[in-house]
Amino acid sequence: MSNHALENAANALKNARCAIAFTGAGISVESGVPPFRGPGGVWTRHDPGKFDKYYFRRNPEEVWPLLKEIFFDTLGKAKPNPAHMGLAKLETRGKLAAVITQNIDGLHQSAGSRTVYEYHGSIRRMQCLDCFEYFDTSSVSLEKMPPSCPRCGGLLKPDFVFFSESIPIDVHEEATSLARQSDVCLIVGTGGEVMPAGRIPHIVKNAGGIIIEINLHETGYSYTTSDYYLEGKAGIMVPKLVGLVLS
Ligand code: APR
Repeated sequence: MSNHALENAANALKNARCAIAFTGAGISVESGVPPFRGPGGVWTRHDPGKFDKYYFRRNPEEVWPLLKEIFFDTLGKAKPNPAHMGLAKLETRGKLAAVITQNIDGLHQSAGSRTVYEYHGSIRRMQCLDCFEYFDTSSVSLEKMPPSCPRCGGLLKPDFVFFSESIPIDVHEEATSLARQSDVCLIVGTGGEVMPAGRIPHIVKNAGGIIIEINLHETGYSYTTSDYYLEGKAGIMVPKLVGLVLS
């Protein structure tokens, strides 16, 4: 990757009228959170079919221990890394309108980002499938599997999107509306393989916007959508870019 691309990308962000970030699992890898695809990916070790809403409903005793192992035990210890901090700093300095994330780990908020659209929900909340009450995950004991609703004793489900479950429609509408108004989209750590979230950069592009991509490897965005492809780890590339934008 040439410094030329980095400088041009920084200028695009510096001069943006409305810039957004679109992030995926890759931004949290340096916080110790495994990606879903690629080397060490969650879906290389677990069958995604078990994280289908209907399979979960039928087999909570089987799926809940996997949820605890893959998500709750890992994410409970994860801390924001310099990439999350860099995006929060851009927002604080008025250079980023929002983060639209596919991640459920809450690390953007922990880093200080205030406007965060969580396309696939969040691990920080649970919902009872019997009384429909919502709970903070911190208020639910995970000692007993599956955990039971503190209110009615029913079956709790983490408030993130399972396969064959629809995404939160309000988040989808607000995020796509913001993307339509944006003139720069910074992609960090996602190959955009899952729709409709993966369409966010295309919406900005189709509206005439500039797409900057930070990824470890080339993705489906790299040749078709990205104007600047900055190859490298998010924890290194985001702070580099942010440093130039704010200099
Ligand atoms: N820095 C930057 N990018 C990285 C890093 C890193 N340190 N490590 C990995 N990546 C890149 C990978 O090259 C890949 O392009 O991050 C991307 C991770 O891709 P996925 O694991 O597919 O994650 P994501 O795109 O967020 O998945 C989308 O799929 O299973 C569903 O709901 C789940 O939200 C998830 C969605």
